[in-house]
Amino acid sequence: MAIVLKSKAEIDKMRIAGQLTAEALQMIKTHVVAGISTDELDQICHQFITETQQAIPAPLNYRGFPKSICTSINDVVCHGIPGAKKLKNGDIVNIDITVIKDSWHGDSSKMFIVGEAPIRAVRLCKVAHESMIVGIEMIKPGVNLRAIGKAIQEYAQGHGFSVVREYCGHGIGQVFHEEPQVLHYDSPHNDVVLKKGMVFTIEPMINAGRKETRLMKDEWTVKTRDRSLSAQWEHTIAVTDDGFEVLTRLPGEPL
Ligand code: MF3
Ligand code: CO
Ligand code: CO
Repeated sequence: MAIVLKSKAEIDKMRIAGQLTAEALQMIKTHVVAGISTDELDQICHQFITETQQAIPAPLNYRGFPKSICTSINDVVCHGIPGAKKLKNGDIVNIDITVIKDSWHGDSSKMFIVGEAPIRAVRLCKVAHESMIVGIEMIKPGVNLRAIGKAIQEYAQGHGFSVVREYCGHGIGQVFHEEPQVLHYDSPHNDVVLKKGMVFTIEPMINAGRKETRLMKDEWTVKTRDRSLSAQWEHTIAVTDDGFEVLTRLPGEPL
């Protein structure tokens, strides 16, 4: 059970990777419109990350994942594989980008609403975002991850939604997924006291219906079992002396 603490100099490098991740998400925003395929979104991100940023898209070939980003539409919870499918008006789509720069990772995702979506879908995206914020704002040395998971769960369930159990946030650094696991619900297995220099993601997956998921035949795409909508937001965060720094937030960008 080793959680790697990062030094000031290492966090400086992770900040660079985090900012590139945030810039890639900002860049793709204007392309997320009805009629574009998720393959096209993947190609635009791949080119931007590899050529403009001179960085590496971490998902590509990660445990056999075939593309450079994840695109998860409507009832897809996470790990959607970009393909020929085109976005249509009313879709909600999560774009999850992980960039490696100078061997350090930045990992972040956002929801995008295509055109005009039903009010319930918009509300789900908003509550999923707020669930992540509730967790992030608790981060400081001495706080237990279990309390953060509990607060996220209470927030989401308090708004009538459910929290996915099978996938979680994670420590991150020179390794994409490292310790600790960051569960977004109350669990005795989430017993980790935060220390300065820990860096991890918070990325709650919130379902409009029931919490259960199913894995598709491609062995990546995760959907809600009841086919309800799902939304997710993710940031990479460092624990500081007295609080937190969101490494994947651009200057001036609201949380
Ligand atoms: N970016 C995802 C996360 O937040 C992981 C994607 S793994 C992949 O942890 F292989 F699907 F890309
Ligand atoms: Co992540
Ligand atoms: Co991610």
